[in-house]
Amino acid sequence: MTLSMNNEPAKDIGYELGQVKSGINTLLETILPDGAERPESLHKAMRYAVLGGGKRLRAILCVWTHEILGGKHRAAAMTAGCAIECLHAYTLIHDDLPCLDDDDIRRGRPACHREYGEAVALLAGDALQAYAFQLISELKGPEVKDILSAVKLLSETAGSKMLVGGQVADIEGEGKRPDEDLVRFIHARKTAELISTSMGIGAILSGSGRDLIIQIRDAGRKAGLAFQIADDILDVRGDEKLVGKGLRKDDEKGKITWPACFGLGSAEKMAGDLIDDSIEIVRSAGDDGRIESLFRLFLERVS
Ligand code: IPE
Ligand code: IPE
Ligand code: MG
Ligand code: MG
Ligand code: MG
Repeated sequence: MTLSMNNEPAKDIGYELGQVKSGINTLLETILPDGAERPESLHKAMRYAVLGGGKRLRAILCVWTHEILGGKHRAAAMTAGCAIECLHAYTLIHDDLPCLDDDDIRRGRPACHREYGEAVALLAGDALQAYAFQLISELKGPEVKDILSAVKLLSETAGSKMLVGGQVADIEGEGKRPDEDLVRFIHARKTAELISTSMGIGAILSGSGRDLIIQIRDAGRKAGLAFQIADDILDVRGDEKLVGKGLRKDDEKGKITWPACFGLGSAEKMAGDLIDDSIEIVRSAGDDGRIESLFRLFLERVS
């Protein structure tokens, strides 16, 4: 998989991407509670929601950011990446519930609540979020102060002023008039910040200084916003079989989306510009081309 833009040769990340993704999947298999442990339904639902699908973008960003910044704690960065995937999986379980987006298909199969029922799915989400924090707080290798910073960053990102706040604004925005200020508020919180934090935690665990961490988080925030814009575009014109979730739902529900606020063409252009900006930042932070290529993949899904 070679990607290019502006006629520049881009790094071929296909092999490395496959390697790190399979490493993350194997680690997730081992660290998640056994499905035979009581209550079996809960542990099975947790495993179901996390395993068997997912691009693992957030985990990969955590691991690769740690690596390009010269970090020496790869095992810890892998575990932190898995923790972020657990937290992300919780957000997807809750996002699909009938009281939120009411979606039946996730990652090409029945959503967690369709398989385990709403009560167990909701609680599996709760347990996954708690487990994410447990995993990060138990990391071995990095300095304790860095582990504490990672926990603090993830808790701020997951909280009411970021991810959960964004989800509430998304739900409360349904049926409202498209509003540019509101869509920026929602997308920054429900999606962009966790992507930024995935890179931020990789940077923190590498022992990087404050300025570099701020720079990296800024790149992640821009790329994360582009990612949600691309997700909105996919909802309009993606292929359900390739994307693995129900599409054409945003308009039906009157969601505040980027295409609804700016139009499809502008949305595409804005996502491209955000990716260009984020690439410039990671290049200056020492990216060897891997993160750049991954960012470009965010857009490839919609082109
Ligand atoms: C889906 O995220 C939710 C959004 C923020 C749009 P991903 O597209 O990263 O989902 P998986 O983990 O690959 O299934
Ligand atoms: C998801 O946004 C954001 C979170 C899960 C936090 P969407 O509702 O657009 O994601 P999809 O399209 O269902 O994956
Ligand atoms: Mg949603
Ligand atoms: Mg949704
Ligand atoms: Mg969506």
